[in-house]
Amino acid sequence: MRFTNKVLLVTGGTQGIGLEVALASAQEGACVTVCGRGVDKGQRALEEAAKRGLHLDFVECNVQDANSVSQLVAGIVAKYGKIDLAFNNAGITAEHAKLGESSIDNWRKVIDINLIGTYLCMKHEISNMVQNGGGVIVNTSSAAGVMAIAGQAAYVASKAGIIGLTQSAAIDYANASKGPQIRINAVAPGPILGGMNDDKNLNENPARTEKKLSSTAMHRFGTGQEVAQTVLWLLSAESSYITGAVIPVDGGYAAGKF
Ligand SMILES: NC(=O)c1ccc[n+]([C@@H]2O[C@H](COP(=O)([O-])OP(=O)(O)OC[C@H]3O[C@@H](n4cnc5c(N)ncnc54)[C@H](OP(=O)(O)O)[C@@H]3O)[C@@H](O)[C@H]2O)c1
Repeated sequence: MRFTNKVLLVTGGTQGIGLEVALASAQEGACVTVCGRGVDKGQRALEEAAKRGLHLDFVECNVQDANSVSQLVAGIVAKYGKIDLAFNNAGITAEHAKLGESSIDNWRKVIDINLIGTYLCMKHEISNMVQNGGGVIVNTSSAAGVMAIAGQAAYVASKAGIIGLTQSAAIDYANASKGPQIRINAVAPGPILGGMNDDKNLNENPARTEKKLSSTAMHRFGTGQEVAQTVLWLLSAESSYITGAVIPVDGGYAAGKF
């Protein structure tokens, strides 16, 4: 029970990696709020939690929208009095296109949700954590944030940007002698089952699926639970001397060529 009396926000927590983190941390005592745009997805997440005897709160929120994020954080603080922990995970994939053929609308949307959305969430979480005497944040980057993927310039740029954001903010809030300490790290998942790697996506293009598999040294997809284990460790006091780090959870994807 590493998170008894801890208040956690999980953005993009209604399915996939985010939901795994929400369920695992609720299991360990956290008061967890998940957010997403889709109310139906939110309802399904609450039902999944209830089946396991767990409670989650759901708030409809689009992380692109500064007001929506501000209201999300204010609502959690009104209910629980604070935010101790945050997992900023909401994200989307980009269209597959070489840069010259990519659309500016898709570029703006991917940067808006993945990068600016993470910034907006951090801004509001950090303001509250500073008032409360500290906290811990984990952001979701990607193996695509540390190594380029062909035809994915917008996604790669958004996820590399999250690493810069994570490290810059980590430095700003690391020194406990100069103010409340907030540890801020990122995970960089490789290909994970579910979400962008659900059965439909994997089955409709077997060649692409095999390419993804053979890009990991372990030659398998990871699971949301495997990412969640790392995220929970980063959120917990067990990682108390770690800040500004980017932890790969990628089966060896970014370790090198093989
Ligand atoms: N799966 C992988 O292989 C993989 C690998 C590396 C990194 N990642 C990253 O890991 C994160 C989660 O991936 P996943 O595969 O678990 O994704 P997923 O199953 O598609 O879930 C994405 C979550 O984000 C929410 N979301 C999307 N846009 C949002 C917005 N504008 N505002 C608020 N919530 C939003 C979704 O809910 P709504 O759609 O209802 O808003 C959903 O809850 C993403 O940041 C992704 O880039 C995934």
